[in-house]
Amino acid sequence: MSAQQEKDKYRIAVIAGDGIGPEVIEEARHMTEAAASLEGVSIEWMDYPFGAAYYLEKNEILPESALAEMGKADALLLGAIGSPQVKPGILERGILLKLRFVFDQYINLRPAKSLPNVPTPVPLGGKTMDSVVIRENTEDLYMGLGGIYGGGCENSFETSLDLERGGYSLRGKLSLSVSPDMPFAVQAALNTRHGVERITRYACRTAIGRGERDKERITIVTKSNAAPALYGFFEDTARSVIEEKYPSLKCEAVNVDALCYHLVRDPLAYGVLLCPNLFGDIVSDLQAGLAGGMGTAAGANIGDGLSMFEPVHGSAPDIAGTGHANPIAAILSGALLLRHLGLKKSADAVEKAVNKYLESSPKNELPFEFGGGFSCREVGGAILKRI
Ligand code: NAD
Ligand code: IPM
Ligand code: MN
Repeated sequence: MSAQQEKDKYRIAVIAGDGIGPEVIEEARHMTEAAASLEGVSIEWMDYPFGAAYYLEKNEILPESALAEMGKADALLLGAIGSPQVKPGILERGILLKLRFVFDQYINLRPAKSLPNVPTPVPLGGKTMDSVVIRENTEDLYMGLGGIYGGGCENSFETSLDLERGGYSLRGKLSLSVSPDMPFAVQAALNTRHGVERITRYACRTAIGRGERDKERITIVTKSNAAPALYGFFEDTARSVIEEKYPSLKCEAVNVDALCYHLVRDPLAYGVLLCPNLFGDIVSDLQAGLAGGMGTAAGANIGDGLSMFEPVHGSAPDIAGTGHANPIAAILSGALLLRHLGLKKSADAVEKAVNKYLESSPKNELPFEFGGGFSCREVGGAILKRI
């Protein structure tokens, strides 16, 4: 998927966003810039102010003109979106999910790797965790079809569909009524063959590219026992792609509830986890916790056009402004961005610098997240020194 390095200057759009977003993105920028310069590459940053403060001041979420401009960038780096000052969903759907959908970023890649000297809640017996969530990123319960209805003026749900996705459009009407009249909520989920097939192909290529340990193996995360239409379809479609196109891969399906149970007992139990959108969201936080913390979990939203790189974590309002945020997840998301641009040496340099910092630092120089005393800026500075 990653483009080969073609130029000596890249334009990267940045939405630092809310809460700890701007704090961690500041460090990720320094690191990405320093690493790229090792290959003689410079970066021109295109800053965008979107997030809670912008919305509250301008009553605008994400203008179309900005989307058009960002579409011309080489990549997008994002901190986090969402604030206690704004009703949940407005900004998350209006910015984060909108970007994933508009740019058809159908792959959400979320590696879960334990890092040197980072304590894990479940002992790994001296081994390292190296698993990856490959999350379908445009469909499932995230389609945005539904609302709250009934209880007086209308007891029926009716919505007109006019949606564009990467390989298809959805048009028409969905309707439902409840009798007797009472308030109800509906949120429809949808998985298409197109959507499942393309994410499965990516997951298979990833499994094959991982080297011996997991080469033969892919795990489909499902819930076909409770939602056989939605997740049975996902599972069956994924399975047929694997059987037809990647017969060397061993394929298993695990219900998401059991998967969570197995994972906390043995975080090393899985390699590539192919997930529908909602399960991928949830499982990636679990994996982040098992690997050492939210503050180290990097992510990429990849499509055939503009791809977006962002940590798995959110805006963490509980620690925003305290300096306690760990910037490593954002820094490693910068490494995924560099790798996507074909800047392999730079990406490796970032990852090595993070490892060196963690290996060589006394406890009081580690991030607060690991019981240390280094602020977000100090952690960033300590990693930058090791590049
Ligand atoms: P969260 O990921 O922001 O926080 C969960 C927990 O992890 C918190 O205790 C937080 O302090 C901790 N944490 C997160 N990042 C950390 C870091 N870098 N260093 C140290 N600790 C860290 O999830 P939440 O509390 O459910 O969500 C807060 C807001 O962020 C909500 O508005 C939510 O919608 C939004 N959100 C946005 C994104 C995104 O932009 N990609 C992702 C998840 C949540
Ligand atoms: C994530 C987040 C988003 C998601 C939210 C903020 C909409 O949790 O990126 O993991 O559910 O995808
Ligand atoms: Mn999430």
